[in-house]
Amino acid sequence: MSFSDAEKAIIVSMCEKMASQVEVIGAEAFERLFMTNPLLKSNFNHLDLSHGSPDLLKHGGKVMNALGNAAGHLDDLSGALPAPSELRVDPGNFSLLSNSILVTLATRFGPEFTPFTQSAWDKFLAAVPEILVSK
Ligand code: HEM
Repeated sequence: MSFSDAEKAIIVSMCEKMASQVEVIGAEAFERLFMTNPLLKSNFNHLDLSHGSPDLLKHGGKVMNALGNAAGHLDDLSGALPAPSELRVDPGNFSLLSNSILVTLATRFGPEFTPFTQSAWDKFLAAVPEILVSK
């Protein structure tokens, strides 16, 4: 999958805007994921998943930082993303998290999350699980 210069710019720009809040954004995305898919909580029995918990914030931050790193390497996503074995989860669930991230960004950034931003992020977040599954 390739990205136009405009798509690359808007993906990176959103990463810069969220840089100071990666933990809360990631945590909210996981809370949305668990609300809509409660069975997925069983992957995290060793963590405290309550709202605002340090575990949830730390894990949310790790995932969003991994995506931020990937956003800086849109021409080599495969090289920039971690191997699924390091992620310890059924790859089929990645796209569910991508949906939750998209909704989280839309609600947090409101009008700044323009239709074009949405389409670029949709493409990016669809590419990530595709690559993770194929690795
Ligand atoms: C966009 C998709 C995803 C990305 C980029 C991603 C990224 C990451 C990263 C960077 C880590 C940290 C690895 C480490 O500490 O060495 C991690 C850990 C983990 N991820 Fe994901 N992840 C994704 C989706 C998911 C999904 C959908 C689930 C489960 C529903 C999941 C479950 C886990 C678990 C259980 C861990 C280990 C947590 C711990 O023990 O601290 N991940 N993931």
